[in-house]
Amino acid sequence: MRITLGVTGGVAAYKAAELVRRLQQDGFTVQVVMTRGAREFVTPLTFAALSGQKVITDLFGDASGGEANLESAIEHLAVAQRTDLLLVAPATADIIAKFARGMADDFLTTLYLASTAPVVVAPAMNVNMWNHAANQENVEVLRARGVKIVDPAEGYLACGMTGAGRLAGQEDIVAAVREALKAQRDLDGEKVLVTAGPTCEDLDPARYITNRSSGKMGYAVAEAAARRGAKVMLVSGPVNLEAPAGVEYLGVRSAKEMHQAVVERIANCSVAILAAAVADYRPVEQHAEKIKKSDAVLTILLERTTDILAEVARNKGQKIVVGFAAETDHVAENARKKLSAKNADLIVANDITAEGAGFDHDTNIVTLFSRDGRDLALPKMSKSEVAQRILDEVVRLRSVLHTAAALKRSSV
Ligand code: CTP
Repeated sequence: MRITLGVTGGVAAYKAAELVRRLQQDGFTVQVVMTRGAREFVTPLTFAALSGQKVITDLFGDASGGEANLESAIEHLAVAQRTDLLLVAPATADIIAKFARGMADDFLTTLYLASTAPVVVAPAMNVNMWNHAANQENVEVLRARGVKIVDPAEGYLACGMTGAGRLAGQEDIVAAVREALKAQRDLDGEKVLVTAGPTCEDLDPARYITNRSSGKMGYAVAEAAARRGAKVMLVSGPVNLEAPAGVEYLGVRSAKEMHQAVVERIANCSVAILAAAVADYRPVEQHAEKIKKSDAVLTILLERTTDILAEVARNKGQKIVVGFAAETDHVAENARKKLSAKNADLIVANDITAEGAGFDHDTNIVTLFSRDGRDLALPKMSKSEVAQRILDEVVRLRSVLHTAAALKRSSV
């Protein structure tokens, strides 16, 4: 498990050094990010020595003499991907205000926006600053957004005053981290099969029919499900993506291979999320040699491939089955039709003509159509955020299913 520890500029910054040790003792890998203010109190070298990792100090390298150690200007996205939890300790009133308003003017604030991992914030400041209405409002905004706040302790403060404002004790902070991580493991014990990417239907050794698909959406779902505790099997067509960490991966080429791979593995799974853009047709004949051109019209006969989603959903039993619909018009109508025709539990529909949605983008705009009649229209968001929302809906549908099964049992 990887924790990114954000250290901000307060007297309590030195306590974050002990916190690094404490987290490591619990088996966490800690990546430290320091704000400019934090570096007025403690040097990056202290944290680098303790964490055994380079300390990240600025978004675009650091003109003020600190460590200019970023591989690239998009490092915050790479760190966001690797982070299982973002902990900020100590957190100043300033960083809390920036998080609340979505400002992104340094590495830590940018990371906060780019990450979908759970966030724990341990404030430390003067008692009047802590109690100020502006600060309290910002804290409430974060709480409402699901950020876990580790309330500061009462006591003697560095400024000479007494009251609430001391950084919470290490054990309280570590307990909050554990709790936040546990809340994220709501797919523990589930076995999730994900299909992703396009399929390629070969015509001859040089040519094939395919669909446009980068695989990004399916890979984001596989990665998010694994992070939430599921055992994930990813069956993928040819894409330019690396299999996410902790996911069992099987590469396939054609719809037939994908179908076969799914059939062999589906029995063991409790959830199927079929995001692949499977070709609906394949050439009837696959030529062993390259077809030579001539002046005559060329006719290629195509036959239907098996609809993997429909087949899985037809025999789904207690499984939750999720499908995707890429539409260009009448999105809601077509998606609802697909939901019932294919017997799925959830259809993730996107209008591929919308700006910022569909193929090759890192963002998507989707509506989730559930079997129990709920429609959830989501705004434009990153594909990893969409993946989290899909899994939230899977968890909700699972509990609806379990409740219905329990009611049925009790009425027998
Ligand atoms: N799907 C599948 N096997 C196929 C075709 C599609 O598993 N042979 C799945 C996709 O992974 C996706 C959903 O079915 O989850 C898409 O359904 P489909 O009817 O193919 O949708 P579109 O191609 O978007 O719709 P249509 O062809 O009806 O316009």
